[in-house]
Amino acid sequence: MARAYAPYSKFPVGAAIRTEDGKVFSGCNIEVASYPEGWCAETTALGHYVMGGGGRITEIAVIAERMPRVTPCGGCRQRLAEFAGPGARIYLCDATGVVETVTMGELLPYGFQGEILK
Ligand code: THU
Repeated sequence: MARAYAPYSKFPVGAAIRTEDGKVFSGCNIEVASYPEGWCAETTALGHYVMGGGGRITEIAVIAERMPRVTPCGGCRQRLAEFAGPGARIYLCDATGVVETVTMGELLPYGFQGEILK
């Protein structure tokens, strides 16, 4: 979140993905003057996760400076579910720590399953 580039919304967000081998991949939101071209913290973290070799995701944390308990947007839920199984824990955080813990399956029930496309 400290690295967020959010000059337009002034809504810094941070995300971190931990895999079973203990690696952590973090991300921030990055905005663009042409607003729809910006992207979310979770998406940056996923880019680092993929480039870092991936692995089984056990935990994901999300934090927003201006919200007591931020929840990933719909698009990021689908992106996270591409790589995180339904049992992965999602920590919704504020500056003091974890406010609420949910699972990937709770966050995105009935998400689109891409298996058939492979
Ligand atoms: N944002 C995130 O980074 N993650 C979310 O799950 C919700 C929204 C960012 C996108 C944009 O830069 C700012 O928050 C305001 O929408």
